[in-house]
This record gives sequence, structure tokens and C-alpha cells, in this order.
Amino acid sequence: MVNTKFLTFNNGEKMPVIGIGTWQASDEEIETAIDAALEAGYRHIDTAPVYGNEKAIGRVLKRWLDAGKVKREELFIVTKVPPVSNRPHEVEPTIKKSLEDLQLDYVDLYLVHTPFTININEDGSFKVDKDGLMEVDVTTNHAAIWVAMEALVEKGLTKSIGVSNFSKDQVARLLKNCKIRPANNQIEHHVYLQQRDLVDFCKSENITVTAYSPLGSKGIAKFNAGAGIVRNLPDLMDIPEVKEIAASHGKTPAQVLLRWIIDTGVSAIPKSTNPARLKQNLDVFDFELTAEEVAKLSSLDQNIRICDFAFFHGVERHPEFTFKNQYTN
Ligand code: A2P
Repeated sequence: MVNTKFLTFNNGEKMPVIGIGTWQASDEEIETAIDAALEAGYRHIDTAPVYGNEKAIGRVLKRWLDAGKVKREELFIVTKVPPVSNRPHEVEPTIKKSLEDLQLDYVDLYLVHTPFTININEDGSFKVDKDGLMEVDVTTNHAAIWVAMEALVEKGLTKSIGVSNFSKDQVARLLKNCKIRPANNQIEHHVYLQQRDLVDFCKSENITVTAYSPLGSKGIAKFNAGAGIVRNLPDLMDIPEVKEIAASHGKTPAQVLLRWIIDTGVSAIPKSTNPARLKQNLDVFDFELTAEEVAKLSSLDQNIRICDFAFFHGVERHPEFTFKNQYTN
């Protein structure tokens, strides 16, 4: 089965609505997972240098491409310019490094990963002050970064460009200055954090939206703990309304969460390294939610942000940081 539903970009490029998310998947896990995902019919793969798995993904893609099991034009590969390289002169060398690791000539979509910029030492470690707060680069200039992003399209290094974690104001500002309009904004989006205003604004500007953490990103607990953050997070797959709707269709809560996202015109990149769950997450096209069910799910919004970047201690001091977390409230 090949995933055949697409969202069409403002430049005509098509993105499969379900992709595989790869954050918090180790090198060992990722090769098996990407293999299983391609077997299951995934063609959209989302990665980023900060996930540390582009080389492993590249190895699997090379095997599939060399064996003729998939054609390059059937794949939709997304990667990002990381927060530590969020400066105009770093954009091109950074995509080139990603392309080298992914063993590709171009990616399909290249995103500015975050609206903020973080400083690092020469050895790649984060610069932190005596209180352990990360040093932020307050000179971040989205318009200038965007010019460098546009040059990548002109050079054929990416088919489309977009942003991630950008607010409505940040997207609006970019639109005022751009030659190539962003094709996509990748944001946290699920029943408990719907960001309706932002989603509707992007859609009205013909910018597609991709939902990250569509299943509530359970794995973030471990990541948060590593940064000394203990936070109780809700289990989206345990919400009674979600479970009830799932049972009535003979589907799983995860499938209902994903179908709701797709039905509202948004693409989703659920992460899984488990072959059975990977398959399940793609198997969301053989049932339909009723208008009442969509409305019920849409009424669950609680404005709970799971990926609030609190793990980047100090990032809230950056002028382009717009999220609320325990350090900003
Ligand atoms: P695993 O990789 O072991 O399957 P998100 O995409 O919102 O970041 O959520 C990813 C988390 O949800 C991971 O912990 C993943 O674990 C788990 N997960 C992914 N798909 C499913 C599913 N269909 N049912 C239950 N848990 C899932």
C-alpha cells in the first residue's frame, strides 16, 4: 500500500499528507524504522540535523534507490536549518551537509527549524553562561535568512522552502519581504493544541501546515528528564472522546487523532520506530469521521503545548521566542 493522499503547495509541489517523524529515534532504531516505513508505503520522511539521524536515513534511502525499489521523485524528504545555524551565511553549507548525509542531490522541503537562534562553541556544544542558560543570538533576521533560503531553490538544492515553529506574526512578517512564499509551516498541532488562529491564517495565505507531535509526543518525557524538566503531560490516546470515537470505527485512538488532523486539511508526521504502529499510522484512509465527531474532537482544545522548548534553558530570552513555558509564565 502506498500513501497516496497529498497536500498541494503554492508552487504546485505535492506532499503526502502522512509522513514519518524521526525525532528521538536513535541511529540503530531509525534504519529498521525507515525500512519498515518504506515497505509500509510511507514516502514522506521528516528529519533534521538536530535529530542526529540523517546519515542513517541516507543509508536506507540509498539502498532503496540503488535497488530501484523507489524512484527519487516518489520520495518527499524534509529537513531543516537548525537553531544553531539560523544565520544567512550558514544556510547553504548547512543544507549541503544534510544532502551529503542523506546522500541526495536535493530535498523536497527545507525548513527554518525555529524562529530563534542559539550559539554554540567550536566543538558543537551549546554555549552556556554560569547559570547554565544557553547563549542566544539576538541578531536573528528572518528576512535575511529567507533570502538565503530562496537561493537554495534557485540552486536546485530544495524544491520548496518553509518554516517551523513560526507564529502568525512571524509568518506575516516573512510574507511582506519574500520573493518565494513559504510553502509550509510545521508546528505542534493536535487536539489539545490546535492553534486554530495560526492554522487558519496559514491556510488563508496558501501555506500548508504540518502537524508535529500529532500523537502527543510521549517520548518527550525522557528528553525533558535529560534536561532536568519534570512535567506531567497528557496522554492524547487516553482521552475518553478519542477512545470512544476510535471504538465506534474499529480503529485505534492514534488513527482517530491522525484522521482528525487530515480532515482539517493539515498534514501529520507521527513518529514511530515500531513497524506495527508505523503501519497503523498510515492506515487512516479507510474510515471517515462524521461531522459531529470532527466537531467533538475540535472542541477538545486545551492550549497544552508539549514541545515548549523549556529543555533549551534560556531560549525564552530570545526576542523571537513566542511560546509559553514554565520560564515565561
Ligand atoms: P513508538 O516509536 O514506540 O511507536 P508523536 O508522533 O506525537 O511525537 O508521538 C510519538 C510517540 O507515540 C512515540 O512515543 C511512539 O512510540 C508513540 N506512537 C506512535 N504511533 C503510535 C500508535 N499508533 N499507538 C501508540 N503509540 C504510538
